[in-house]
Amino acid sequence: MSLRSLTIGLVVWFAVGSPADAAGDAGVHLDVYKSPTCGCCTKWMDHLAEEGLTSTGHHPRDLNELRRTLGVPIRYGSCHTAVSSEGFLFEGHVPARYITQFLDNPPEDALGLTVPAMPVGSPGMEYQNRFMAYDVLLLKKDGSVTVYASVETYEQQFD
Ligand code: CU
Ligand code: CU
Repeated sequence: MSLRSLTIGLVVWFAVGSPADAAGDAGVHLDVYKSPTCGCCTKWMDHLAEEGLTSTGHHPRDLNELRRTLGVPIRYGSCHTAVSSEGFLFEGHVPARYITQFLDNPPEDALGLTVPAMPVGSPGMEYQNRFMAYDVLLLKKDGSVTVYASVETYEQQFD
């Protein structure tokens, strides 16, 4: 084999991509700020992983102070705050599909998404077969919110 054909071969191999590239297709990584004693946050991170999103957990001393710094109004807060590589915020038990949808096309003036409190049946908040309808809210830079998605059924949370 000549050096030239070897080089072409390698270029083709890189262009087609390794399996690792395929797995990271969505390319979404979140830093999750949570309490070390809160199990539902970890279960939500498991949900992210099942949907192909990667995340790293962090345990700051004061989560509300972090929310204030990031601009998440406490009344729209939940148990954990996730920050994407681009700097967008995802507060609480937001289903992965809405995170991906948001990051594919971030609305203007948006800080991120929030699911305030912890609705039963949302990802990471499974309890028996219960499900409570809830809204995923779009959080704007001025602190206001609009409804981004109304989640009416358990199934709607998954693609
Ligand atoms: Cu929670
Ligand atoms: Cu949590």
